[in-house]
Amino acid sequence: MEEIIITDVAPRDGLQNQPVAISTSAKLQLIDLLVKAGVPSIEATSFVSPKAVPQMADATDVIGAVAGRDDIRISSLAPNLRGLERAMAAGAREIAIVLSATETMNRKNINMSLDEAASVSEETLRVAKSAGLRTRAYVAVAFECPFEGLTPLDRVLQLARRMDDAGGDEIVIADTIGAAAPAQVKAAFLALREAIPVERIGAHFHNTRGMGAANAWAALEAGVRRFDASAGGIGGCPFAPGASGNLATEDLVLMAEQSGFSTGISLDGILEAVTFAEAQLGRSLGGEALSWYRSRKARLAKQAVASEL
Ligand code: COA
Ligand code: ZN
Repeated sequence: MEEIIITDVAPRDGLQNQPVAISTSAKLQLIDLLVKAGVPSIEATSFVSPKAVPQMADATDVIGAVAGRDDIRISSLAPNLRGLERAMAAGAREIAIVLSATETMNRKNINMSLDEAASVSEETLRVAKSAGLRTRAYVAVAFECPFEGLTPLDRVLQLARRMDDAGGDEIVIADTIGAAAPAQVKAAFLALREAIPVERIGAHFHNTRGMGAANAWAALEAGVRRFDASAGGIGGCPFAPGASGNLATEDLVLMAEQSGFSTGISLDGILEAVTFAEAQLGRSLGGEALSWYRSRKARLAKQAVASEL
């Protein structure tokens, strides 16, 4: 069976945008539940300004507690050298830079021009690589920008190539506001794989218009095997208006496994992680498939009890 590798970004993309304060120990419990569910890679937090994103102010404690684990890859956002320094001091072995494909989105997100953001990202990747870290490089708003409209594919290809040259081990093409559609996604990834080895390309979708799974399928058809997703579909960027939840891990796992791919992830395990996150956030969560999966599980449990009587 062909494998796809999922990075669960719920602890970062999901929790960076919550109105409710989540304790460090609850974040660590969520990470632990994701590991138990068999998730092979987790984006745990971000080393950004605590003034910009107070929800991630405890990044040092989160990474300090989990970065040493050998059973899982743990990544964190580090958009500049200051973030990288903090990540390394906490013991991080993998970081991710975040470069947006438009001028305005870089200004809003990291207070840099596109040129500046591209060179800061390159430098951060180079320093991280020379220190022996694994690296991910996001190219954000790769399909559409909330401020500038459609993003030119040529620019995405050029930035992706630059991040690859600078040492990005994985170049993650992100539909930050969930505005892409499958035909566009397939064309973009077919073009990208001409520029970068496909094994190093990742896809990150949001589900704003309900097309997250369809877009993931289009990327799969283009040969992409690395995906970001978020347990329960929690996610969204505080600086990108309209960025709602991510493609849910449970939806991606179900679609991939039913279509003959293996993920190593247990849906029961993800259900536990989502149930825990719901209790923490005080609201119900879940991708398209979760309520079906929950009621099927309850029905099977009832049948098992009945057959024992
Ligand atoms: N972590 C913590 N503090 C940081 C930092 C980092 N990675 N980078 C800069 N700072 C601090 C500086 O030390 C400085 O502190 P001081 O005021 O105590 O001297 C202050 O922030 C301002 O530094 P400056 O370089 O001028 O940064 P800025 O104000 O232009 O902000 C970012 C740049 C990148 C730090 C900020 O825009 C940011 O954190 N954005 C968050 C993006 C994000 O997480 N988006 C969602 C996910 S994509
Ligand atoms: Zn995202």
